[in-house]
Amino acid sequence: PIGLLDGKIIDLQENIVPMEDRGHQFGDGVYEVTKVYNGYCFALKLHLDRLYRSLRELTIPAVYTYEELVEFHALLIKESGIKDGAIYLQITRGVSPRAHGFPEQVVPRLTMSIRPVSAVPDKNKVEGAKGLLIPDERWLRCDIKSLNLLGNVLGKQKAKDAGCFEGIQVRDGIVTEGTSSNFFVIKDDVLWTHPTCNLILTGVTRTLVIEKIAPELGLIVVEKKFDEEFAKSAQETFVSGTSSEITPIIALNGQPVGNGSVGPITHKIQDAYWKLID
Ligand code: PDD
Repeated sequence: PIGLLDGKIIDLQENIVPMEDRGHQFGDGVYEVTKVYNGYCFALKLHLDRLYRSLRELTIPAVYTYEELVEFHALLIKESGIKDGAIYLQITRGVSPRAHGFPEQVVPRLTMSIRPVSAVPDKNKVEGAKGLLIPDERWLRCDIKSLNLLGNVLGKQKAKDAGCFEGIQVRDGIVTEGTSSNFFVIKDDVLWTHPTCNLILTGVTRTLVIEKIAPELGLIVVEKKFDEEFAKSAQETFVSGTSSEITPIIALNGQPVGNGSVGPITHKIQDAYWKLID
């Protein structure tokens, strides 16, 4: 498998993480995951816009231009020969002797990798998956796509241990988002999802559902807070994300959502999403 370090193709087996990289020691960095469909990086501009925003929020200097980052994605696709896959990109504040405060002179470090992903939708997407409502134990800047994912990791594991695909997080009684996805519920044929703020990541897939897919299908979207009971009594629910795409959530905490199978509106949204990536 190949990767990329500061713009150069490398062998992923190479030991390239210096002990004192701040990403390694503090999680001091940001990342993006993009999907490659049929040799093209999907919605790359939206991902890169968000990457630059994450960098700004953490005051990590942006030392690569938009054009360079686009080129690096294309280079990884070309060199790996992967047609359907996922590209992981991370930028850390750089390498410096360990101390919490920002180092004075340091160059951010870019690493990227690519791996193949099956082009065929998996069982969760086709038949629907189970969700588990869990407490949202993350920090208060979930809008930044930072490397600090311990809350997300522990939440996902809690869901896995319960035989569920995704942990749907709840903070102060309000349903926020999945551990690696955004969460939507459908009630009276209206789509509900948590508003954009510091408590959720503004997902690229979420944006596409709200701005492209829903208008095309004539669906109303409200970006408003709702609680656990509201979610449990929904007609349909689903999660959205680069990896999850549109994954129907057909049960919450062991109770069926709606009639416990993939609902017609989720189906339409899924079809519209697959048309977008075509
Ligand atoms: N997930 N919320 C969280 C906490 C996430 O980690 C992600 C991304 C999303 C969805 O964002 P997007 O649609 O831009 O992928 C929401 C990982 C990176 C993934 O799905 O691969």
